Amino acid sequence: MERTYHIELQDFYAEISDTAKHLWEKGWAERNGGNISRVIPKSISQTPLACTKERIPLDEPLPGLANRIVLMTGTGTRMRDVAKNPQDNISIVAISEEGKEYMLLSSDIPPTSELPSHLRIHNFLQLNRKNHNAIVHSHPTNVVAMSHLKNFRDSRHFCNTLWKMIPETYVFLPRGIAVLPYLMPGSSKVADASVNAFSQGPDVIIWAKHGAFAIAPDTNDAFDKIDLIEKSASIYLAAKSTGEEPEGLSDEDIEELRQYYNL
Ligand code: 13P
Ligand code: ZN
Repeated sequence: MERTYHIELQDFYAEISDTAKHLWEKGWAERNGGNISRVIPKSISQTPLACTKERIPLDEPLPGLANRIVLMTGTGTRMRDVAKNPQDNISIVAISEEGKEYMLLSSDIPPTSELPSHLRIHNFLQLNRKNHNAIVHSHPTNVVAMSHLKNFRDSRHFCNTLWKMIPETYVFLPRGIAVLPYLMPGSSKVADASVNAFSQGPDVIIWAKHGAFAIAPDTNDAFDKIDLIEKSASIYLAAKSTGEEPEGLSDEDIEELRQYYNL
């Protein structure tokens, strides 16, 4: 029975495994760093298997995820292992009919410690940005380095600086980037702050001194968003290391892109 379930999820295991490979190859996934989650389409429904599992109460109801399955990387798993062997490293989380409890369909693979953030952000997305089914959290080196510099703790300054390093960052992330203060990993505090930040519109948020969280239709699109900001951050820090302040695209350049791409 469990096997039938896994076969229906094959394409999604493959998608997550592909993204995990990129994260490892980029060098953003030290030890078990980062996590990935993916909401499965409604057409792949809960099976009777869920009925036999222990129901774990959620801190707050998640009506947007009622009756849905969410795949998540397991806590403590290495991205390089997720890439090689997704079935043994991805947790299957089923949300109950009313969105008040969850069941672990893969009880031997406990989900990421960032489960509160993943579930609450997915709930927000299913209610507000329905085509966004994926979340990637990672520890991109240059982005995290910039978040240690006090004046980049300001979202507007951080976002403007990254937008101006290469045209693509603005073109593909016109909704912006938000920076949150350092908050305890895995806590409901960081989950609440993240939902609040995403409700303002950005596609990527930075958890200062920790990492990035991106939302997108699928996990590879979410990876791309972190890749864009990491590229911009690395260009900024490389130019800055010469001792000069990088010039960046001008406001007029950005306006030209906005008009050309109808952003
Ligand atoms: P997990 O192994 O629990 O997913 O934790 C990794 C991480 O990056 C926490 O922020
Ligand atoms: Zn992390």
